[in-house]
Amino acid sequence: MKVEKRSFGKTADGTAVDLYTLTNDRGMQVRISNYGGTITSIRVPNREGEPGEITLGFDQLAQYEQQSSYFGCLVGRYANRIAEGRFSLDGKAYALAQNNGPNHLHGGRRGFDKVVWRAEMFHEEGRAGINLYYQSRDGEENYPGTLDVKVVYTINNDNALTIAYQASTDKETIVNLTNHTYFNLAGSGDILGHEVVLYADSFTPIDETLIPTGEIRSVANSPMDFRTATPVGARIDEADEQLKLAGGYDHNWVLKHDDEPVSLAAVVNEPTSGRVLEVYTSQPGIQFYTGNFLDSSIAGRAGETQRHRGGLCLETQHYPDSPNKPQFPSTILKPGEVYRQTTIYKFPA
Ligand code: GLA
Repeated sequence: MKVEKRSFGKTADGTAVDLYTLTNDRGMQVRISNYGGTITSIRVPNREGEPGEITLGFDQLAQYEQQSSYFGCLVGRYANRIAEGRFSLDGKAYALAQNNGPNHLHGGRRGFDKVVWRAEMFHEEGRAGINLYYQSRDGEENYPGTLDVKVVYTINNDNALTIAYQASTDKETIVNLTNHTYFNLAGSGDILGHEVVLYADSFTPIDETLIPTGEIRSVANSPMDFRTATPVGARIDEADEQLKLAGGYDHNWVLKHDDEPVSLAAVVNEPTSGRVLEVYTSQPGIQFYTGNFLDSSIAGRAGETQRHRGGLCLETQHYPDSPNKPQFPSTILKPGEVYRQTTIYKFPA
């Protein structure tokens, strides 16, 4: 088990950025940059025990700075969409950037994915990791309150990558943090053959701008039903209104929770490589996004390009547009409270 640090170069505005490599004793290796808290690489063994890359990403820092598809990064202050970028808190109206059609997406023009975090690496018995810190000032991207955020990434010898999020504020605000890694457990090709289970009986249907309508709808008798293992591609192109609106899967599922601090939210099985991903979380929802907006115009690693549906995201989160949907679990954080969420991406061997 070890953690190493090297330079990842300088951002366009001249800030030095590092790349941390976390390695366990079981052939798992995770690379994370303090630029955007971005997971730039995860390598885990296939069924023959050969490690291989299972995320979409880039070789160069500049590519992370220039892209707008959120490869591997942390997302905040509010992950996912807020309708028209508007919400009210304590009787005051706020207007956020409308950076996705009419809506606010993933924290705005310069969200937590585009800032440099302060990093500390650590290594202790059975765990290697990094602590990332970012202070988002009052009014940054028009959000109220100075928010102090800490994100801890750790790996262990169970091939589990744990992401622990913590935040506190000096003024009432809204918070929704996630990570936006694109997984491809085969290491190449598209993700249509990946078999997915989502531990959810319902989801939040969307309108034509991908904002939840407010309804909580059963997944029964629809292509949104992933209660038993189903290949991503089995129904993705069906003439279903919800699939048509998003060009595939790009929806929030309402997770079932037991009494544990984290519950199993999703399992992905890639039959050709034999790799399996289990997702555990404390969060109430998960955005299952099948890379519908990716296309080969985006250069990838080592001269390759990203491809349509070449990766899938399992973004654990609060429901989109919660600040405008009082019936959804609240995303308000008040002074004196601590926001805490944990998500685990585990690759059982
Ligand atoms: C999220 C959204 C998608 C898309 C991606 C980034 O997953 O739900 O609609 O915007 O981020 O490309």
